[in-house]
Amino acid sequence: MKSREHAEFKRRRTRLMEMMAPGSIAILASGQQTVRNRYVTYPFRQDSDFYYLTGFDLPDAYLVLIPDRAAAQTVFFCNEQDAKDRMWHGIHIGPDEAITALGVDDAFPLEDIDDILPGLIEDKARIYASVGHHDAADRKLMRWLEGIDDTDVEIERSRHRLSDLSYLLHELRLVKSAYEQQLIRTASHISARAHNRAMRWVTPGSWEYQLDAEIQHEFAMAGARRAAYISIVASGKNNCVLHYTDNNSQCHSGDLVLVDAGCEFQHYASDISRTYPISGTFTPAQRAIYQLVLTAQAAAIAAIQPGVRFSDGHDAAYAVFAAGLQQLGITQSIDDDIGNWFMHRTCHWLGLDVHDVGEYRIDTQSRMLEPGMVMAVEPGLYFQPDDLSIAPKWRGIGVRIEDVVLVTKTGHEVLSADAIKDPDAIEHWMNKQPNRLI
Ligand code: GLY
Ligand code: MN
Ligand code: MN
Repeated sequence: MKSREHAEFKRRRTRLMEMMAPGSIAILASGQQTVRNRYVTYPFRQDSDFYYLTGFDLPDAYLVLIPDRAAAQTVFFCNEQDAKDRMWHGIHIGPDEAITALGVDDAFPLEDIDDILPGLIEDKARIYASVGHHDAADRKLMRWLEGIDDTDVEIERSRHRLSDLSYLLHELRLVKSAYEQQLIRTASHISARAHNRAMRWVTPGSWEYQLDAEIQHEFAMAGARRAAYISIVASGKNNCVLHYTDNNSQCHSGDLVLVDAGCEFQHYASDISRTYPISGTFTPAQRAIYQLVLTAQAAAIAAIQPGVRFSDGHDAAYAVFAAGLQQLGITQSIDDDIGNWFMHRTCHWLGLDVHDVGEYRIDTQSRMLEPGMVMAVEPGLYFQPDDLSIAPKWRGIGVRIEDVVLVTKTGHEVLSADAIKDPDAIEHWMNKQPNRLI
């Protein structure tokens, strides 16, 4: 880990400890390796909270924070490695390396945790943990609590000391540091290039999964080894299925394809959607809906700045849709319900998780935006193929346009602006010859 990253992770732990109650301890478990099928595991992805505070990228580890201690406030537990482990799995950080590698104060083998943890939590007035995410970690925590207090009454009292760590930690994660902003910017630049590549590559006869392969290729070649989520590559009537991930249909001329894909770069997500005509040219009906979604997205993005409410972006997009659908004759009045065609919210936080953590409301009010918050802005309109309430020309058209937006001190920055989205620019880009080269 470079010294800048070292300092960044340390700063996060310090800030969290400053937020913790006097006489408290926080216990965080890493993510777990998950079996995919016989002898094969899914690629490991660290728990985002754990990564945020450690930068450690292996399973079977714990971080313990004890702010009131004079020394050894941060204690780490992970697996030891012997020569055989190194031969089979390569060299990884063990407890001996963790202090230097991660900048924690103390580190022990994971096998010692059951002996050490009960003593650390014994006299603490409050025990912060994230309960309900990992079954095995929950069971371990309960065993540690029950280990100190062995009567039913004492166990109950012990559980009352438990507090959810998520609230404090997720408020911290919500506002991104300059370092984090740069990682999301890079993730978004890479993802934008991947969208442009796929847009250029698609042709009637392409399969949706092949389009995804073009995207994954660009991610990897640009240094992002995985996607932040399963790509949605939805052609034809599939583009009205909001979370379509089958990606197994063939693309046909005359249809649109909706591609929602983003890479993960050094654990930070991007989340971009583009919709374009497989033939390279929009039909008039497709272009009309596309233009309306683009205008709604521009209105939502324009509303983003410090001191406005999170919900203002959605409200701006909604107002554009209400007026535009009436102008197109799809509704009678701007007061008509449009929920059949615009059925999701416009914005969500983005960071280590593609749907990132942090409250959207404070008490009953939508919260105010602050510099350093990052969100995806993704209005969409979806006209189901069997929707008899609309003229046939609209049926089967689904359009979503999604970008990553950072709240800055003076307004906002669209981090994914490189992904082509003006309809004329899309047609120009798609019709450049030769089609399959970028
Ligand atoms: N890719 C998931 C979303 O757009 O929210
Ligand atoms: Mn998306
Ligand atoms: Mn999104």
